Amino acid sequence: MKRIGVLTGGGDCPGLNAVLRAVGKTVIPAGIELVGFEDGFLGLLLGHQRVLHASDLSGILTLGGTIIGTSNRDNPFMWRPPGSSEEPADYSDLAVQVLKTHNVEGLVCIGGEGTLGVAERLMREKGIPCVGVPKTIDNDLNATDVTFGFNTAVQIATEAIDRLHSTAMSHHRAMVVEVMGRYAGWLALYSGVAGGGDIILLPEIPYKLEAVYEKLHERNKSGKRFSILVVSEGARTAEGKLLGSTVNDPSQPLRLGGVGAYLAAKIEGDTGLDARVTVLGHLQRGGTPTAADRILATQFGHLAGEMVVNGDWGKMAACRKGCFEGVPLVEAVAELKTVPLDDPLIAAARDVGTSFGDEMQ
Ligand code: F6P
Repeated sequence: MKRIGVLTGGGDCPGLNAVLRAVGKTVIPAGIELVGFEDGFLGLLLGHQRVLHASDLSGILTLGGTIIGTSNRDNPFMWRPPGSSEEPADYSDLAVQVLKTHNVEGLVCIGGEGTLGVAERLMREKGIPCVGVPKTIDNDLNATDVTFGFNTAVQIATEAIDRLHSTAMSHHRAMVVEVMGRYAGWLALYSGVAGGGDIILLPEIPYKLEAVYEKLHERNKSGKRFSILVVSEGARTAEGKLLGSTVNDPSQPLRLGGVGAYLAAKIEGDTGLDARVTVLGHLQRGGTPTAADRILATQFGHLAGEMVVNGDWGKMAACRKGCFEGVPLVEAVAELKTVPLDDPLIAAARDVGTSFGDEMQ
């Protein structure tokens, strides 16, 4: 029997289990055995895997997280085995060996830019047949209009902003809400517009503090004595600094965070207005996927499964202008999809009075 592997890599997000279910329910009836590698590429390197039977994939459509675990720090091309103090090195041949040992002929990699970048290299440099599925709450993957998980994260952030409105109004405060998204402002833009944010700050649009303060004062003067600022974690400080930390391991990606607190302190110090910050953090990735994400994840997983059955490797399941199709993995990882400055939603938001902190009124 043909065996293929599946793994979920990078940060988790709502809809991963819905994709696993759709992949399995497409390939298993076609006579393919599905093996789940645990904790992303870590399981591939350590040989931690288990067969996923149809029964394992039942009842997981609505479940948050991923039943096979994930990891966002185990790149086979630059890996340090757990517990070792050696410098990270290329272990991709070990991944090839593990696949051979377990008779796994190809891999479905469900992940964001990092995971799909590894999948693309495994295919190109090591000849491992790979298919990708675009996952990320950041919605920053090229070659697809949307990634699953984004809709749920927007919904969660919007609900939080809605709740902050009433307390902001009661206390006449400026409420700063820091949302995720890394270097792309999609999550801040969509939740900011959906939640009626007065000021939305994105990594793509450098802001001036004076323009932010002017908007706050203008609202106060017009009798609206509160404001909601939605800030992307990747928005820079007025001095152009990206805030975050690498904790104890400089080889790991920067953990973004802090720009919300920075802004709230600046607002209080420079304007005398009362300001507070709320950092939504990993709440945005937790829990059950929205209906829209369940549907998207099912379509992506089904398409990925079909690509496996047809031997159509080297592609990522994508949604473009409402159509589902396979696009070359290399295209998907070529560059990050950030918010274009001419995005119609930015123009619409400006027209309804939202400030992006870049222009004086
Ligand atoms: O890429 C998804 C994401 O949630 C980003 O928005 C965020 O910057 C990052 O992951 C957080 O990663 P971690 O789970 O390692 O803290």
